[in-house]
Amino acid sequence: MDNLDTIDYNTPDAGDLYDELPLWSAPFGLWILDRVPLGQTSTILDLGCGTGFLSIELAERCGPSSTVIAVDPWAAAMERLRRKIRHRGLANIQLKEVDAVGLDLPDQSIDVIVSNLGVNNFMDPGAVMRVCSRLARPGAAFLLTTNLVGHMAEFYAVFRKVLLTTGQGDRIEALDSHINHRATIASVSASLANAGFGVSEVDVSAFRLRFASGSALLRHYFIRLGFLPAWAEVPTADKVRPTFEALENELNALALERGEIALTIPMACIFARRE
Ligand SMILES: C[S@@+](CC[C@H](N)C(=O)[O-])C[C@H]1O[C@@H](n2cnc3c(N)ncnc32)[C@H](O)[C@@H]1O
Repeated sequence: MDNLDTIDYNTPDAGDLYDELPLWSAPFGLWILDRVPLGQTSTILDLGCGTGFLSIELAERCGPSSTVIAVDPWAAAMERLRRKIRHRGLANIQLKEVDAVGLDLPDQSIDVIVSNLGVNNFMDPGAVMRVCSRLARPGAAFLLTTNLVGHMAEFYAVFRKVLLTTGQGDRIEALDSHINHRATIASVSASLANAGFGVSEVDVSAFRLRFASGSALLRHYFIRLGFLPAWAEVPTADKVRPTFEALENELNALALERGEIALTIPMACIFARRE
């Protein structure tokens, strides 16, 4: 690729791959892009890269003398990332289609680690942090973003009420454990510290996901993809359908009262360095 290699709008790939960033990931990813150190020559690891918008953006912003290593075991997402890389003609991204726990890279070979909505949601974040600790050179940056406990509190308040009104008080514990599995600043900072990364900066913010009604919320594509499977595990197995009918009704009533359903998403961007 040279510096006059334009992209033709009129190819099928240009249309198909133009819309390439999950909206849910965008506010978190923009934070990383605003803070990540842009070395002239660096090796950057993107853990849980998904379809790779951040890997691509970093590869392009850092330029050909830097390398991005994009890691994710999700085969379909990695296939899309391969297509995007081909379409753009990028030569400075390597793909590792593996669980990050099994990453086979040299010790102290990484300058920057990023993970957008990633590592603290992995099955074994502690094991991945230990891998990061081995791979990071001293002084390497680690930037991760996450949603926090408190995420969608408005929805969970209705969920709690519905469990009680449908005779499922015994499932409140399951709801609480689902709510509390999310990160806190303290939990993420502690797991970074355990892996030898000192937290130097924490930014906290929030945004809202707004819906006209409960019916719209429960049918939204990303809700169905990213959240509904875990929500459906909260009620008693034979009460899932009536629970969701009641939830939809309650949320619809709330939307009529408030004019909308707005869900707050508290978020954090945590910047650490390998000690
Ligand atoms: C919420 S998605 C975020 C994807 C992407 N970073 C983004 O911002 O759009 C979490 C990603 O982590 C990946 N993942 C889960 N466990 C993983 C592991 N052990 N090692 C590497 N990636 C993992 C998932 O496949 C998924 O693509």
